[in-house]
Amino acid sequence: MNKNFKRTTVTAALPYANGPVHLGHMAGVYVPADIYVRYLRLKKRDVLFVGGSDEHGVPITIRAKKEGITPQDVVDRYHKLIKDSFKEFGISFDIYSRTTSETHKEVASDFFKKLYEKGEFVEKTSEQYYDEEAKTFLADRYITGECPHCHAEGAYGDQCESCGTSLNPTDLINPKSVISGGKPSMKETKHWYLPLDKHEEWLSKWILEDHKEWRPNVYGQCKSWLDMGLQPRAVSRDLSWGIPVPLADAEGKVLYVWFDAPIGYISNTKELLPDSWETWWKDPETRLVHFIGKDNIVFHCIVFPAMLKAEGSYILPDNVPSNEFMNLEGDKISTSRNWAVWLHEYLKDFPGKQDVLRYVLTANAPETKDNDFTWKDFQAHNNSELVGIYGNFVNRALVLTHKYFEGKVPAIANLTDYDKETLAEFSSIKEKIEGYLEDFKFRYAQREAMNLARIGNKYLADTEPWKVAKTDMSRVATIMNISLQLVANLAIAFEPFLPFSSKKLRALIQVDSFEWDELGSTSLLKEGHQLSKPELLFDKIEDEEIEIQIERLRKIKEENDKMNHKANPIKPNIEFDDFLKLDMRVGTVLECVKVPKTDKLLQFKIEDGLNQRTIVSGIAEFYKPEDLVGKQVCFIANLAPRKLRGVLSEGMILSTEDSDGNLVLLQPKKEVTPGNEIK
Ligand code: MF3
Ligand code: ZN
Repeated sequence: MNKNFKRTTVTAALPYANGPVHLGHMAGVYVPADIYVRYLRLKKRDVLFVGGSDEHGVPITIRAKKEGITPQDVVDRYHKLIKDSFKEFGISFDIYSRTTSETHKEVASDFFKKLYEKGEFVEKTSEQYYDEEAKTFLADRYITGECPHCHAEGAYGDQCESCGTSLNPTDLINPKSVISGGKPSMKETKHWYLPLDKHEEWLSKWILEDHKEWRPNVYGQCKSWLDMGLQPRAVSRDLSWGIPVPLADAEGKVLYVWFDAPIGYISNTKELLPDSWETWWKDPETRLVHFIGKDNIVFHCIVFPAMLKAEGSYILPDNVPSNEFMNLEGDKISTSRNWAVWLHEYLKDFPGKQDVLRYVLTANAPETKDNDFTWKDFQAHNNSELVGIYGNFVNRALVLTHKYFEGKVPAIANLTDYDKETLAEFSSIKEKIEGYLEDFKFRYAQREAMNLARIGNKYLADTEPWKVAKTDMSRVATIMNISLQLVANLAIAFEPFLPFSSKKLRALIQVDSFEWDELGSTSLLKEGHQLSKPELLFDKIEDEEIEIQIERLRKIKEENDKMNHKANPIKPNIEFDDFLKLDMRVGTVLECVKVPKTDKLLQFKIEDGLNQRTIVSGIAEFYKPEDLVGKQVCFIANLAPRKLRGVLSEGMILSTEDSDGNLVLLQPKKEVTPGNEIK
């Protein structure tokens, strides 16, 4: 880290207050952010840790409608739940506020106004779906219809939940308004856009040249956005839930949730520090660090910096350590499928075991690739590392000291070479842990702390004080002194990672506090210092406790499978003659390109044996067009041609989906002659 910085503002993504947080959130964002902040505080650096709830956005209004309550009721409920569970889990925010606060409304409106007055927006009129009966524009989620890809009914304007494809509202066949059930019309609406294209040049230089040190996943995602070219992004929406666009002619329009939410970091700082908040956001000697999940990268690395730059008086983030995703028992965590372990439920089911989850989430942190959380692995980490290594070493050291020295730290008599080697080993630990933490490599950092306990266990096993006690008590005194210094070091080393256990350990060795800079010291506990009675630092987790969790998830999976079959029931029988009407064939892909201005559609040119034909298919998110050229696909050859986004599609390419909802093309195992029938 550049030593010229005087202070650090650390933000953690504001979770949506439309549901509780789960352990994917914790692993990806809050645990690493908290470790980092605790470390900076221990280093006595000036740091501010800002969090809060993200309380706008359409999903919140939909949830409210479903439950027959107001959006404010929804966010009140989840804001409290999330805030309380973070607190209990030891996420040490300096402030955890919310985007429905008065301060935020003011700060976000002023921010918009300033950009507006500086001419930083472009105004554009576009056509959007409108419900004549309800007299309101329809957000993507408020439109349903037939999915153009899998033809399931009830697909949403932004996604078909049946095949997982994400959509634009205008892709839907026979769109319907969720509010009135009527057919929506197209109506012109005006919105304000942030012209990211105008920011592209400086963004490219700032990220691609000046921030090569960002994590490869973050840098890579930014690069591919920049390579594709940036487009203007609307920063307003036609909705009633949100912060009203602070202009005279903007009735019924609110700020887009992704415009107001990151400003929430600033508002929450201002709420905490009404007089000095600007120091944390505008002083060039302040370092800004955003902890986020990978789905937030573009907003924090491109959109928000463009907003800050356009405003003109703010600093830009110095680093954006984003994690990949944590999966659960082999499947992607999903709130809508209830496939998650909720933080507040964990805290109920495993009281007092905050540090166990903190430890496991860091040990498996998805820092460079997606990772998997399983309950068996959770149990194994607890039993073999926390109990078996860390807890075991501490316990042996304390028990032996009580046994031989009435719980008082004995004096060192003579150091052997082996003692000196051991002492040398743990004096290098500080530099290692710090190096990793400064680099946001939390799993490595925590592993170094655990290594300290490994050193301790090995030392006791090698020196065997319980045997030496029969002959040489002054040797035992030396061994126990060294062991106890190691114990004290563990309390310091684990402080950023496992704060609850460090506190408990300090109580066991009767020390109120340590300085981080004492880490590595070999004289933390003075001769004669009294220790408390030994108590276990960690408890074994039994199979039964884990089985309950596994069983809970098994039931959810079963429910989901049932629902899936309900959503896609087997269709009624058809006659064999009807089947014969269907003409399915294998074709070879000659050309494949993205349909311009769409995210999902690929346009294929297929060799079908007789001719070449064009087929449009909604699989662009799952396949790169260039990877498909030369490959064979299966298609329906006699489906009446239909126009999709202006392109005439002569058939339909067949696909299925995997358990994460990704589309997978059906392809013959072996190359066959193009045009061959499927029967
Ligand atoms: N609520 C968003 C999410 O969970 C994150 C918002 S981060 C902020 O994906 F910067 F906008 F606040
Ligand atoms: Zn679909």
